Parts: sequence; structure tokens; C-alpha cells
Amino acid sequence: MGGKLKVDILTLFPQFFDSIFNYSILKRACDADILDVNIFDLREYTTDRHHQADDYRFGGGAGMLLKPEPIFRAFKNIIPDVKPKPLIIYPTPQGIPFNQDVADELSKETHLVFLCGHYKGVDQRVIERWVDREYSLGDYVLTGGEIAAAVMVDSAVRMIPGVLGDIDSALDDSFRHNLLDCPHYTRPENLNGLSVPGVLLSGHHRNIALWRKITAQFLTKKRRPELNKK
Ligand code: ADE
Repeated sequence: MGGKLKVDILTLFPQFFDSIFNYSILKRACDADILDVNIFDLREYTTDRHHQADDYRFGGGAGMLLKPEPIFRAFKNIIPDVKPKPLIIYPTPQGIPFNQDVADELSKETHLVFLCGHYKGVDQRVIERWVDREYSLGDYVLTGGEIAAAVMVDSAVRMIPGVLGDIDSALDDSFRHNLLDCPHYTRPENLNGLSVPGVLLSGHHRNIALWRKITAQFLTKKRRPELNKK
């Protein structure tokens, strides 16, 4: 059994996460006390009558920003004043690329805090004062940081020992050894004339391993040639 991960998420849309942590592997991780998730509603840290969390950008232009004061207030409440400090992550298209290596690294932490941005993002002073890491899922823009935070938590949690039933199933995932995963088959052997590659039924373990390696290399070269060069 590995470590335990505490995840705090600060968001304008707390309900977004209801379903994410209530199904399948993430739910099992919570039930097994491997994962401890706390969702914080950013609006609760506003002080005005309308609970306004966003504001116009200085300099003009379309799109609002999340105001800094509620976020400062929230972090001062959420983040314990003791060491070790949690790692504060801000998902943003301006971040460095999130990949399997980052997921592995995050799975070894004990406390992660995610700040979910919206609209044009957050006031830069929030990033300078609080944020340790900015990660991007890819070269596209999402409506908010919630989906990105959920992806990052999911991919990190599944790497914590004890979360997946069979840890071997993570060891030969896509992106291990800079390769995409090979195709897989299950029963029946013949599906209305669609058959399974014979080698997989042969019981010959060395040939099966070789077939999987070759098909993974072929697929990687065809679809993701840049992975091959890493
Ligand atoms: N928020 C909006 N777009 C994003 C992206 N591509 N990656 C991470 N966070 C985001």
C-alpha cells in the first residue's frame, strides 16, 4: 500500500466534482482512505452582497477575471501554516504541458491544492503569491479549470500504489517507454467473423510480448512519431 493523497479544490462550481469522485476507481480510492478530497466554493470567500467573484480586466478587452481577494482569503483559510506546504497547482493553457511524468510526480505528493480558473483566468498576483505549478492539458482552451483539475487528479491518483487493482496494468500503459499501448482483445475469439490475432491465443508468452511490442512501435510511429524520438 502506498501513500495517502489529500486534494483540495477551489472552484466556482463545486457541484461539478460531485460525480467525478463518486464513481469507479476514484470512489474506491476515497473509500479506501487513499484519497481525501475537499471541494471549496470560491463564492463563500466573497464579502459583497452579490457574492461577486469576477471583475473586468484593467486595460480593457472582452472577458472577465477572477478577483484576487476571495482567492487570497480562501487560501489563507485552506492552506495550513505548517510544513510541508501543499503543492498549489493552477491549470491554465499558459502552463507547461501536463503529461504522464507529471502525473507520476504528483502521485508521490501528500497534499495538492488546485485553483480552478474561469473566463480569462485569475489576477496575476494570485499566481505570483500562491501558485507553485501551472500546467496545461494541451493546446486548446477549456471553459474552466475544473475539467483540467479533474483530469490531473485522476491521472495522478491511479498511479498511487493500491489504487488500481492490478498495478501491472499501469506499468504497460500508453506513454510508458514513450510508446502508445498496443491493441487488446477479450472473449469471444470469433465475433461474427471478426477474429483475434492468432498469436494472442497461442499461449507462447515470448511471441505475445514481441507482437505487443511491435504493434505498439508501429502505432506510435504512425500516430505519434515525436514520442519515438524522445
Ligand atoms: N483551462 C482552460 N484551458 C486549459 C487547458 N488547455 N489546460 C489546462 N487548464 C485549462
